[in-house]
Amino acid sequence: MRLYDELPYPLLTHSSTHPDRLAVVGRLMGMKPAAPDRCHLLDLGCGAGANIIAMAELLPESSFAGIDYSESQIETGKAIVARGWG
Ligand SMILES: C[S@@+](CC[C@H](N)C(=O)[O-])C[C@H]1O[C@@H](n2cnc3c(N)ncnc32)[C@H](O)[C@@H]1O
Repeated sequence: MRLYDELPYPLLTHSSTHPDRLAVVGRLMGMKPAAPDRCHLLDLGCGAGANIIAMAELLPESSFAGIDYSESQIETGKAIVARGWG
């Protein structure tokens, strides 16, 4: 049992991590980022994955993966994916 199992992180989204923004920042820094609508994004410490689940719904041609050591949060994320946000 991890601390985040006892006190789950809130289901939040973070616009600063959206592939659109990351691609703009990357280009401004001289990189050649993947197209936001066809990218692969890994969230290390994703909690329940609210942030990547929301982005996955908006960018169906991209792929999103999340890793977290809090089993309860991963189960929450799986339930959201299975039944939707409602
Ligand atoms: C502040 S929360 C961020 C959640 C999510 N990325 C978001 O922005 O909504 C940090 C998360 O990292 C996870 N975490 C911390 N250290 C970790 C590790 N070494 N391996 C896997 N997950 C880890 C915690 O369980 C927690 O869910």
